[in-house]
Amino acid sequence: MKSLKRHFTALAMSACVLLPTSVQAGKVEVLHWWTSGGEARAAKALKQMMEDQGHTWKDFAVAGGGGEAAMTVLKSRAVSGNPPAAAQIKGLEIREWAELGFLTSLEGVADNQNWDQLIPPMISDVMKYEGQYVAVPVNVHRVNWLWVNPDVMDKVGVKVPTTLDEFFEVADKLKAEGYIPLAHGGQPWQDATVFDAVALAELGPEDYRKAFVEHDMDVINSKKMERVFAQFDKVMSYVDDNAAGRDWNTATGMVMEGEAAMQIMGDWAKAEFTAAGQTPGEDYLCAPAPGTSGDFTFNVDSFAMFSLSDEEDVKAQKDLARTILKPEFQTLFNQNKGSIPVRTDMDMGDFDSCAQASMDTFQSSSDDGGLVPSFSHGLATTSHIQGQIFDVVTNFANSDNPDPAKTTDQLASAIQSAM
Ligand code: GAL
Repeated sequence: MKSLKRHFTALAMSACVLLPTSVQAGKVEVLHWWTSGGEARAAKALKQMMEDQGHTWKDFAVAGGGGEAAMTVLKSRAVSGNPPAAAQIKGLEIREWAELGFLTSLEGVADNQNWDQLIPPMISDVMKYEGQYVAVPVNVHRVNWLWVNPDVMDKVGVKVPTTLDEFFEVADKLKAEGYIPLAHGGQPWQDATVFDAVALAELGPEDYRKAFVEHDMDVINSKKMERVFAQFDKVMSYVDDNAAGRDWNTATGMVMEGEAAMQIMGDWAKAEFTAAGQTPGEDYLCAPAPGTSGDFTFNVDSFAMFSLSDEEDVKAQKDLARTILKPEFQTLFNQNKGSIPVRTDMDMGDFDSCAQASMDTFQSSSDDGGLVPSFSHGLATTSHIQGQIFDVVTNFANSDNPDPAKTTDQLASAIQSAM
């Protein structure tokens, strides 16, 4: 009798465990732009964890690095009254969407999971609107990285450059031996990503912040900025002639195959090496972008949550938010994505040496002022000002007759017009 009772109790308990999934399963449509090999593996981790909870994942992937195309599609879907449950929206754009009334509060989940304790305030502030969480952060990407093919460097007899001057020297030697020194794709966001790293190297974190966060005209319209453009021009002269329109992961592939020696790109590039089964320190190297050692331009991916009406879909949406901050997800996803966890309490033992180096620099730079939000990935300024900077940078990169002084003036007026 007793054992029968135990049996029923066990059955009832397992029903309780099963019931919430089967009864309350919902659909979660997620907009993102993670379509490269490495990115897709990371996205799959999230999809899998949602499906394991009984929910249906509706993939809303819009290809295009940096997410410009995804944002355009999102706007038209939202305007027509049919937004997805979650969309990869970053930085100040989160507030822009919240102000328009599209987003829903995640306070219940956030309280329950104690988000304020898990996430650094610098990041949680960006996720909130009027004091309430409306987005959940996924990771921390470092933008100022250099990806290197060590075989090519060995063959040419050069070392990984640590300053821009060293970079120019090394690049000359690589070029003389018939290698493409810098793999790059000629797309505005990629031009801006390289410019971002050169600006950090030339300006240092304090002036970088003044220029791209505070929009201080004394820094934006200065000789220093002219020098940033001049150095950027020189860096870009080591890119091959076929770069126009090339995707960033194709450029990473060129480094992998030894056609090119280096790439300046955020650590989503590492995901491509990981997906190809390569090991850092052996098959490829990660180093700070020249001149930026110890500094860290951060880029935080996050999902903003839209207001929905279907109760089950709301439940799925909350489960999505909760899942993203679970330690298991943080490890699995970030190992595949190339980034580091956004939770501050994670054990980095299971991560590769590049991720460990990234975490170390993230922490040391947040103590010594070297941590800055990346303007090229939407963390430093409004989407409007970012767009203006992109235009100026990309026109300069594509100009037959680039003029740093004139372009500095253009940058100043472009930013001013958007403020
Ligand atoms: C960044 C994004 C990364 C990565 C990259 C290339 O803006 O934060 O997650 O996807 O674009 O697509």
